[in-house]
Amino acid sequence: MALVTTKEMFEKAYAGGYAIGAFNVNNMEIVQGITEAAKELNAPIILQVSAGARKYAKHAYLVKLVEAALIDTDLPIALHLDHGPDFETCKSCIDGGFSSVMIDGSHLSFEENIAVTKKVVEYAHAHGVTVEGELGRLAGIEDDVNVNAEDASYTRPDEVEEFVTRTGVDSLAIAIGTSHGAFKFKPGQKPQLRFDILEEVGKRLPNFPIVLHGASSVSQEYVEIIQKFGGKLDDAIGIPEDMLRQAAKMAVCKINIDSDLRLAFTAGIREYMFTNPGHFDPRQYLTPARNNIKEVVKHKIRNVLGCEGAALK
Ligand code: G3H
Ligand code: 13P
Ligand code: ZN
Repeated sequence: MALVTTKEMFEKAYAGGYAIGAFNVNNMEIVQGITEAAKELNAPIILQVSAGARKYAKHAYLVKLVEAALIDTDLPIALHLDHGPDFETCKSCIDGGFSSVMIDGSHLSFEENIAVTKKVVEYAHAHGVTVEGELGRLAGIEDDVNVNAEDASYTRPDEVEEFVTRTGVDSLAIAIGTSHGAFKFKPGQKPQLRFDILEEVGKRLPNFPIVLHGASSVSQEYVEIIQKFGGKLDDAIGIPEDMLRQAAKMAVCKINIDSDLRLAFTAGIREYMFTNPGHFDPRQYLTPARNNIKEVVKHKIRNVLGCEGAALK
């Protein structure tokens, strides 16, 4: 099977009341862990690459790894640019074989965001590629950009129709209280999402796919493994899984997860290295890391996304 765009995936997800997992990939073990899980559960999947991942692993390596996953799994897989910072990066990914891109103009003024998003949409659609835009600003860290909670802002529902109509985007990321990274809430703080905003956006954009960034749930199990085996990690708090499941039943068709993979991968390596201090073959310590990724993704498909078996429909 060739790469697919997100268009058909989202149509089916919207109608079926489930979401597609968009998992960040940076190396071979991560690609394999994610896609092996999706294969076992027959789930469609989005593999996404940030500008930082392209810098780390190089564009061609990541594209070829994803092509290998297509051969290995025969699943519907979309290859997506996560947080495209500008038109040039989006164009480079479109020209270089991605099936979907995000242009993140969320830090710009409304008019500037529309202008750059529209430019990306025109180029992407002419090349058969789908585009995700963003309105509202999440807190947290992404690619060295750290947005303080005070600078974050919820999406304004009264702006979404104009943004979608004027840009022609295929999906829209909104800010309803999720945030990037592993420390989304302070200890003792009760996690909350603005479901009222999601509902209002859904009413104003009927049958339109909404995206949630910053949607890791932060498994206490992996945090404790990292802490137990020498890691210096503060207690972290993520988005409760039942809230994400509820969002997936509403207009949310794409749920972005990276921090949960990072924690699982690191926990696998830390535990192995600590319990086998004499080992130095990377295949030995990367095997549990890859297995942890697979377990996390299977868990998300079943308990958060609700897309088990959806690759066959
Ligand atoms: O939202 C950001 C993703 O977690 C990617 O992170 O930019 O450090 O690769 P990165
Ligand atoms: P997390 O940091 O919650 O995993 O969010 C990832 C993300 O939004 C990638 O775009
Ligand atoms: Zn994000």
